[in-house]
Amino acid sequence: MKNTFLKISTFTFMIITSTTTFIQSGIMVPGIPNAPESDLPLKSPSIQKTQQIQAQGEKKVMQESKTIVIAGGAGFIGANLCRKLAVKNYNLVILDSLATGSLENINPLLELPNVQFIEHNILKPLELKADYIINLACPASPPRYQQDPIGTILTNVVGTHNLLQQALRNNAVFVQASTSEVYGDPLEHPQKESYRGNVSCIGPRACYDEGKRCAESLCFDYARIYQARVKVARIFNTYGPYMDPQDGRVVSNFIVQALTNQPITIYGTGKQTRSFCYVDDLTDGLIALMLSPDNITGPINLGNDTEYTLLELASTIISMTRSKQPLTFAPLPEDDPTKRKPDISTAKNILQWQPKTPLVDGLVKTISYFKKKLETLNKTEQKNTQHMPSIYG
Ligand SMILES: NC(=O)c1ccc[n+]([C@@H]2O[C@H](COP(=O)([O-])OP(=O)(O)OC[C@H]3O[C@@H](n4cnc5c(N)ncnc54)[C@H](O)[C@@H]3O)[C@@H](O)[C@H]2O)c1
Repeated sequence: MKNTFLKISTFTFMIITSTTTFIQSGIMVPGIPNAPESDLPLKSPSIQKTQQIQAQGEKKVMQESKTIVIAGGAGFIGANLCRKLAVKNYNLVILDSLATGSLENINPLLELPNVQFIEHNILKPLELKADYIINLACPASPPRYQQDPIGTILTNVVGTHNLLQQALRNNAVFVQASTSEVYGDPLEHPQKESYRGNVSCIGPRACYDEGKRCAESLCFDYARIYQARVKVARIFNTYGPYMDPQDGRVVSNFIVQALTNQPITIYGTGKQTRSFCYVDDLTDGLIALMLSPDNITGPINLGNDTEYTLLELASTIISMTRSKQPLTFAPLPEDDPTKRKPDISTAKNILQWQPKTPLVDGLVKTISYFKKKLETLNKTEQKNTQHMPSIYG
């Protein structure tokens, strides 16, 4: 395979291969950065110093097609969303620092002529051409976002700001992936968009919860001040293929423990509730929001409104995987919400969207994905004589 290096600027270079275009931002930050850079953040779109990253190479941009930039596109939701959008008539630019996502998640897509990947941390300014920008870039699992809490806040605030500037510059639609965590440990149930939340601004989850709340504020300030075309989705717990088996989310934890003959760990009593949305439904909701008229800005809840206790989820997964393992109980982490269930009437009325996939059907596909994934990991493990890091502690 032929590799050509082209220098675009001091900070930016591009690798072109014969089959894929792989553009790498020159300021490499493995994982989430620990501290703000000196040139961040800047005050207004007009004075923002930018890096120019151009999509060039052997791929021909389909001139007649709209371009969608998906920041965080190599993560779990991104990998599913990109698969759906890549087969439609769009040019896709996947922008990701690979902090929690992986090229493996999107590898087959990179072979397509209309899909490009840019390795870039959204904390650094950049210049893009886009008709739509979808901002998924942020680690979503509590252990991962708590590994570098300052990086998490900055990704949500400075990173979202950088992307909003690009949306404005291009008059692009900007879709922000917000979260049910903006409701914190809710005192209202189910949670409507009008509920203002019960969030600790000083606890260990605050980096994510408050970061996402601030990102929402930024979106609406950009809309008020600059007439930016923003749309905010509040995503509730989502599960499905391409979740990272090791990132410590409840569905992946239970399935991986059941498939690897380990006891299933329940934090707290297991009576806390969650509502689980299959990722295929969620990505349909995100696309419906992206394509909605400009006056539909949200925030809009996207999730499944069928509620389960974690004990119910565990026993469903145990029976589906025929696990013989017992449950073990560990202390509930600080600020863990006791209940969570979206009111999705706005999404039903405005987007004509609602989830279709029953939990068991979604779990069948997810368990099948994890079986294959674990087989691959086991082979790699044997080859490298390394063990998968334990997430069960
Ligand atoms: N999965 C859920 O249940 C859920 C629920 C609510 C909200 N969300 C939101 O949806 C989005 C996607 O979640 P996910 O589950 O796919 O998480 P994920 O961790 O699998 O994906 C996030 C992606 O963003 C990338 N990323 C992180 N920081 C970045 C940065 N500074 N610059 C560029 N890329 C960066 C990661 O490498 C990864 O590919 C997140 O914003 C998350 O907050 C997810």
